[in-house]
Amino acid sequence: MSRFYVTTPIYYVNDAPHIGTAYTTLIGDAVCRWHRLLGDDVFYLTGTDEHGLKVQQSAEALGLDPRTMADRTSERFKQAWRQLDIANDDFIRTTEPRHYRAVAKMLTAIRDHGDIELGTYEGPYCIACEAYYTEAELIDGNCPIHLRPVEQLKEENYFFLLSRYQQPLLDWYEAHPDALQPEGKRREVISFIRQGLRDISISRTSLTWGVPIPWDERHVTYVWFEALMNYLTAIGYGDDHDRFVQWWPAVHHLMGKEIIRFHCVWWPAMLMSAGIEPPAHVLVHGWLLVGGEKMSKTRANQIAPADLVADFGVDGLRYYMLRDNAFGPDGDFSYEGMVARYNADLANNLGNLLSRVATVVGSKCGGVGPAPQHDSPLATVAADAYDATAAAWARFAPNDALDATWRLIRETNAYLETNEPWKAEPGPGVDAVMGDALEALRIVAVLASPAVPAACSEVWRRIGLPGSPADQRVPEAATWGGYPGDLPVEKGAPLFPRKAG
Ligand code: MSP
Repeated sequence: MSRFYVTTPIYYVNDAPHIGTAYTTLIGDAVCRWHRLLGDDVFYLTGTDEHGLKVQQSAEALGLDPRTMADRTSERFKQAWRQLDIANDDFIRTTEPRHYRAVAKMLTAIRDHGDIELGTYEGPYCIACEAYYTEAELIDGNCPIHLRPVEQLKEENYFFLLSRYQQPLLDWYEAHPDALQPEGKRREVISFIRQGLRDISISRTSLTWGVPIPWDERHVTYVWFEALMNYLTAIGYGDDHDRFVQWWPAVHHLMGKEIIRFHCVWWPAMLMSAGIEPPAHVLVHGWLLVGGEKMSKTRANQIAPADLVADFGVDGLRYYMLRDNAFGPDGDFSYEGMVARYNADLANNLGNLLSRVATVVGSKCGGVGPAPQHDSPLATVAADAYDATAAAWARFAPNDALDATWRLIRETNAYLETNEPWKAEPGPGVDAVMGDALEALRIVAVLASPAVPAACSEVWRRIGLPGSPADQRVPEAATWGGYPGDLPVEKGAPLFPRKAG
């Protein structure tokens, strides 16, 4: 059995969940659901990043202590992900004791390797990014990401001697050409490393809201430095060595493009220093833009997933997020685009197929679903759809995977339109066509279940099948001929009622 470990970034608790954070979390969820269908042993990790200046200041602004704020917001993330049908296997909070233990262990390993020194840090810092910049990186004196003023920091800090890792990192990327995707991001990271790496400050004395440095309690760990370690904490680093080595380093880290320097420069160097292999796969996606801008608290252009769920349902939102944008480039979120996508693919294609199949089986087959034909023209369409769907999920391309699955839906609708079983007399001819359409629906329910799990369970139930599509195993369950026939088919309400534009 293959192991499949996927992580999202852990989200800052100064901010509520929005569709940008939902985007990464949904992609990870859908890919993991696909791998569960394949029979893999899956571990899907998400969570919250709870320390640092940004969280402390946001809490103070609300008159809360940071822990109360972290408790509240992490609960909101958990609820949001539950609402969106995210099947994560763990939810890590960086304030948990298990994380403190893992951080202490890794920091000690890095120090024992001689890569931590005390020094003085002086320079610009963006609180919103929780990141240090050089003067040259600023744009008109402002943070290059948030375009807002930076703070000038001067402190005694511990430093991680990142500069030592320039050549080891270049060698590692050369030896692992598939470690970072897409290719453009890989080139960006390599050219950044080639320019030379500066040692990085990894502790604070001006702040108390953080994980203490194990050998010097006056300092807390710089939030990014310990947040990255969550990926190890959750699989037992420091607590359960056997478990840890089962999952690491074959991880898939998913993230937006603004945090690749941390994940693709610092993180592999930190791991090398601690004697651990760097992550096998980093997959970087673009931003979901609203009106051409990244959603953020400071721009007040955030959209809450719950608002869209109210209009489109959980699966309506899931489908749009996975289908409308390719994984990699930036994409635009628009309400109009969402209505169009929902109506075209969910209401008119999938919903319509189910309802016309159930209607004709009701009127021409006595409400009992017939078995498919072995040599149906749809059999090869289904086989091709499976191959293309599987290949797309394997390369983390949910939009292509869904496009491939939807080809089978469109072809099945076309098959019905060609044969017009609703006009024919009941008998073997109608039964054959309807058996084929039911079989296509069964396969669609399996293939689309990673994206729209509740709708697929409902399709499954309405065509009379026991259990649920998520319990199936591919490729067997996607092979033509699995619908046994002789099952009650239920008409039911429209699966995806059409939206007015
Ligand atoms: N806490 C850090 C991550 C630490 S990981 C060790 C952080 N948190 S965050 O709350 O700001 O979340 C950033 C991530 O949320 C992005 O990398 C991306 O995965 C997701 N997104 C946030 N806004 C987004 C968009 N507008 N579009 C797409 N993804 C977005 O950074």
